[in-house]
Amino acid sequence: SKSLKALAKPTGVRVGTAVDTAALADDATYAGAVSAQFNSVTPENVMKWEVVEPERGKLDFTEADKLVAFAKAHKQKVRGHTLVWHSQLPAWLTSGVEDGSIDKKQLRSILKQHIATEMGHFKGDIWAWDVVNEAFNDDGTLRDSLWLRELGPEYIADAFRWAHKADPKAILFYNDYNTEGIGPKSDAVYKLVKELRSEGVPIQGYGVQGHLSTEYGLPTDMQANLHRFAKLGLKTAVTEADVRITFSASDPATPAEVQAQSNGYSYMLQSCLLERSCISFTVWGFTDKYSWIPQVFPGEGQANLYDEDYQPKAAYETVQRDLRLA
Ligand code: G3I
Repeated sequence: SKSLKALAKPTGVRVGTAVDTAALADDATYAGAVSAQFNSVTPENVMKWEVVEPERGKLDFTEADKLVAFAKAHKQKVRGHTLVWHSQLPAWLTSGVEDGSIDKKQLRSILKQHIATEMGHFKGDIWAWDVVNEAFNDDGTLRDSLWLRELGPEYIADAFRWAHKADPKAILFYNDYNTEGIGPKSDAVYKLVKELRSEGVPIQGYGVQGHLSTEYGLPTDMQANLHRFAKLGLKTAVTEADVRITFSASDPATPAEVQAQSNGYSYMLQSCLLERSCISFTVWGFTDKYSWIPQVFPGEGQANLYDEDYQPKAAYETVQRDLRLA
């Protein structure tokens, strides 16, 4: 059968995957599938702050550079992930804030510098950047993070302004989970984005991660949700799709779960394909062989399009079908 990227080409929507760079280096089957199936890649971890600046002022883009080179060699776009997040911060930064050796003013300039340095390093090579990631709680309030506590809510607008200066051509995204459909969290993001746009803040993309579980059902009105952001002038994207099953990794999924998983992928992909503003559909890994889920949600998994032996699952066939029909 045709590859996902061949099927996606006429739709204008890029089909991407998060890439585990260790697997890319060590597992030829994995690397072969990344290049054969996808025309966009996102580093799963190696552009995060703790990886690129493990010690203050000591920058390490080695792993990320390898992925960018791989993407160039295979004519793939790169989604940069992620510049401002509460998680995977370097220890020197969090401890410096805690012990008071980094004050608010310094922290603000450190963040500005981080954005300028990292985006500057990759300037021209990154299609879209997840500038701010996961700044909201599910109830629509702002997440209590180091950034909010120290810099106040203004950190979000600042980050986008700094990012636009660093790489004016990259599409600058706000990215979050549980924001696929319409609900309190996406309403809050919408309200903020609307304000920012009216103030001229360069925010240009709305990314919905798409981490679903067969246990909780589908999001509500996803296409309409993407569309309201499009009406504010934004591109949209599904950035981290996966649909986990509540079973230990060794248990076979039930037919109902297999169907529900396919439905989850299909609902998100179709919402994207039907919404003109949606520029990419990225899965957060494509094989159960390397998945973040069992570590974070013990007893859950099997969330990807291929099983641990690289056999395509029903969800893969569904994605193929949806791309063909688009
Ligand atoms: O790099 C170290 C390695 O040196 C060490 O030996 C090993 C021991 O556990 O840990 C390695 O770091 C792990 C890293 O993944 C790389 O494998 C971290 O412990 C682990 O916490 C980290 O998990 C990542 C997670 O973000 C961290 O929050 C997952 O791989 C990654 O898939 C996940 O991705 C996030 C997105 O960035 C944002 N949206 C949600 C998504 C899923 O949680």
